[in-house]
Amino acid sequence: MKLPTKLIHSGIRPDPVTGAIVPPLYQTATYVLEEVGRDKGFDYTRSSNPTRQVLEENLAAVEGGEGEAFGVCYASGMSAVDGCMKLLSAGDHVVCSDDVYGGVSRHFDRVLARYGLEFSYVDTSEPQKVAAAVRPNTKMIWVETPTNPLLKITDLGAVAKIAKDAGVYFGVDSTFATPVFLRPLEWGADLVMHSTTKYLSGHNQLIGGAVVTNRREIYDELKFIQKTIGAVPGPFDCWLALLGMKTLHLRMRCHAESAQKIAEFLHRHAKVARVIYPGLPSHPQHETARRQMSGFSGMISFELKGGIEAGAALMNGVKLCGLAESLGAVESMITHPATMTHADVPAAERRARGLSDGLVRLSVGIEDVDDILADLAAALDRVK
Ligand SMILES: Cc1ncc(COP(=O)(O)O)c(C=O)c1O
Repeated sequence: MKLPTKLIHSGIRPDPVTGAIVPPLYQTATYVLEEVGRDKGFDYTRSSNPTRQVLEENLAAVEGGEGEAFGVCYASGMSAVDGCMKLLSAGDHVVCSDDVYGGVSRHFDRVLARYGLEFSYVDTSEPQKVAAAVRPNTKMIWVETPTNPLLKITDLGAVAKIAKDAGVYFGVDSTFATPVFLRPLEWGADLVMHSTTKYLSGHNQLIGGAVVTNRREIYDELKFIQKTIGAVPGPFDCWLALLGMKTLHLRMRCHAESAQKIAEFLHRHAKVARVIYPGLPSHPQHETARRQMSGFSGMISFELKGGIEAGAALMNGVKLCGLAESLGAVESMITHPATMTHADVPAAERRARGLSDGLVRLSVGIEDVDDILADLAAALDRVK
């Protein structure tokens, strides 16, 4: 089956009672047993829920390619990251991309470090730096590609080899790419993680997360941790995410086509100092992105010549694009990473990572691209 067909049909069967084509929303906490020791496959929604199970099967089919894969859904992208880290024990070390979403490094450095996990941040777009950072106690390599917000691309095949040689887990946060453009399991990852809050659900209606693995023993452990900790999504959020999945391929095509046009417009604009978009030949890992991804997705980061004042004037000046934290939805959203998504990354560390205060991040929506371009052009005209 091709991907669009999988997105619409995988995991979904007509309801056996009514024939409903849309999986029913099982908004229930518990299930009545037929007799002691005999249930119908469900006992308590923290452990499993039929609506969540459909979403998990759908995600597994979509991310897993031809092979067997298993999905686990979470209450948020952050709890999905946390679920992966709970595969580890005190004293274990993680090599992590240096430009991860600020909430991820905050979780690693300010929460998990207190429980004895160790983290090293390296530019994973240079695989030799990943290899050099592996220590005897390393148990996981954690890569975000493209990264948030500098859109760095990691060569997943090269890093998978390093992980395999070292005998460590290889996890990929693929939130920005989506399975429409990149399937990390096919490049050798053990775990692929999504904030389903973003493109997968796509309509700014829910907070959710997911992990897909092609290794049964990892899945069993993740399920055990999930049911023990209970960071599970509500059934209604799973139901909404499933609706989002059905149109993912159409939305992603539109996000990417519009982002390419907008990146080229910004690249030509006299007031713009630099544009970061994996689809531009000027992107340092453009060739890796072309080889590894089937599209460049909908995120653009850029900097204006007027620095932070000009960036702020632009972000305050747009009318169609919403000044908002999130990304990956039908609405275009513009963000100031230094004060919004990455505010908790200390200023010195932000600078060391190359994340300047003047950086603007744009999540290109699926409005008519001419309207988004007109909004940006008008706001740029007003920038001094
Ligand atoms: C790349 C990436 N990973 C993880 C997360 C966390 O996801 P959530 O906000 O659903 O917890 C985000 C949120 O912005 C993100 O951008």
